[in-house]
Amino acid sequence: MMILQREELYLLINNNYAIILALLSGLLTGFAIKKLTRPSDAIPGSLGFPLVGETFSLLSAANSSKGCYDFVRLRRLWYGKWFKTRLFGKVHVFVPSAVGAKTILSNEFRLFDKCLVKSMADAVGKKSLLCVPVESHKRIRRLLSSPFSTDSLSKFVQKFDKLVSERFKKLAENGNSFVVLDLTMKIQFDAMCDLLMSIMDESLLNEIEKDCTAVSDSMLSFPAMIPGSRYYKGIKARERLMRLFEEMIASRRNSKEVHEDFLQSMLERDSFAADEKLDDSEIMDNMLTLILGGQSTTAAAMMWSVKFLDENKQAQNMLREEQLSILGNKPKGAFLCLEDLNKMSYGSKVVKETLRMSNVLLWFPRVALDDCKIQEFEIKKGWHVNIDATHIHYDPELYKDPLHFNPSRFDEIQKPYSYIPFGSGPRVCLGINMAKLTMLVFLHRLTSGYNWTVDDQDLSLEKKSPFPRLKSGVPITLTALKDDI
Ligand code: HEM
Ligand SMILES: *[C@@H]1O[C@H](CO)[C@@H](O)[C@H](O)[C@H]1NC(C)=O
Ligand SMILES: *[C@@H]1O[C@H](CO)[C@@H](O)[C@H](O)[C@H]1NC(C)=O
Repeated sequence: MMILQREELYLLINNNYAIILALLSGLLTGFAIKKLTRPSDAIPGSLGFPLVGETFSLLSAANSSKGCYDFVRLRRLWYGKWFKTRLFGKVHVFVPSAVGAKTILSNEFRLFDKCLVKSMADAVGKKSLLCVPVESHKRIRRLLSSPFSTDSLSKFVQKFDKLVSERFKKLAENGNSFVVLDLTMKIQFDAMCDLLMSIMDESLLNEIEKDCTAVSDSMLSFPAMIPGSRYYKGIKARERLMRLFEEMIASRRNSKEVHEDFLQSMLERDSFAADEKLDDSEIMDNMLTLILGGQSTTAAAMMWSVKFLDENKQAQNMLREEQLSILGNKPKGAFLCLEDLNKMSYGSKVVKETLRMSNVLLWFPRVALDDCKIQEFEIKKGWHVNIDATHIHYDPELYKDPLHFNPSRFDEIQKPYSYIPFGSGPRVCLGINMAKLTMLVFLHRLTSGYNWTVDDQDLSLEKKSPFPRLKSGVPITLTALKDDI
């Protein structure tokens, strides 16, 4: 993907030699002037117009097949590793180093706090774990943890394995090409809705998914209530979801039916003290946050794993060998348990390498709560600093041959803050174990049961997606390895 972009750039340079030369000399003079007038610790970059700044450049990159990280890539090319810009009215600095990531993540809540752009904050809601101030964050995070306990995850593994096995079996029997991303979005969504609210009804699931997709689509849009716009549709879909959750909570409170799910564990706390429970709007905003945070991220990572393994047959063969041996040691037809997943040592490295290369969350946004320094760079109070995990994960100083998919590189221990696909510190991904576990189950069933061919090799990225995903969604055709599985 990155290689292609580099080739494209060479092509562009060759074809537009004169223009580039003119631009370059302009840039160089500009650069020389800036160098003379700028103190060495100031961060280069253009803030663009007041307020809007370079917002439209970001949105236009997001609206292209190169994806929104192209906005960052281009500015690194123009200004160097550290650069600043203005987005949605705020100054943003992109922090490209593990040392910088450490400075920010180890000062969470003290010097820096999470700060989402308005469209994202509106999508997830005020009481979402992603938006609340530090005082509520601790309590909400503690109370949200129940579905992620080992006990609850070990039940989830079996259920999830059953779901994945059945879907793969059906698709293989059908024999036609299907889009991996559609499959992974659906299994991830169904599994989350079951875990959170025990919803199994297909038509209700489809209805909720449609609205969740609209909300997710609005996360990177211009936040103005213009009928027909992505933002408008997202806000309307969010209102419908909140009404649905409200009705569900009311009906649970009025009935004696017992459920074993996240919502039930929250409602059982109704009579608890205020600091030992979530209020209704906290429950609702966070159910949506968990669905949004858990579905597209994991589904996109699973899609990339299929793509990377297709391009790297040696890694695929090693993974298949490990997974077949795990399958062979279990009674026929038995579902996976946590213990089996712990044996997947190569599988875990495939998951790690997939997350390093796919960078489902490209960067993690924070705002500086005070004037401070990151490395030698001055940061002003109120500036936004984005931890650029993508740049860190592709840094050749940290990862030899970074464009090569090589799970075995994780035989070596990583330097601190150089591997952060789930973030780090008090805001580390809440679903980290669930994400790893679902990816392992998915890879187990795929490689131990089937061989596959990728039916579309196009590397264009999906437009307007906040997560990097291939536009094709990776269509594949499965062949069962043995007839009897
Ligand atoms: C491959 C899949 C996933 C990736 C790459 C991922 C990545 C991340 C990252 C990087 C953060 C921290 C962002 C920051 O520091 O600003 C985060 C936070 C979070 N993630 Fe995930 N995530 C994944 C799956 C999940 C799943 C499955 C769930 C839930 C079921 C989930 C729920 C959350 C929540 C609630 C937070 C906010 C935590 C807080 O602010 O305290 N994620 N995720
Ligand atoms: C996105 O790109 C398409 C063409 O590729 C264009 O017609 C459309 O106006 C663009 N939308 C935005 C919001 O920039
Ligand atoms: C999978 O298919 C490819 C190409 O059809 C073939 O070369 C390879 O040996 C197959 N692998 C397995 C494990 O069957």
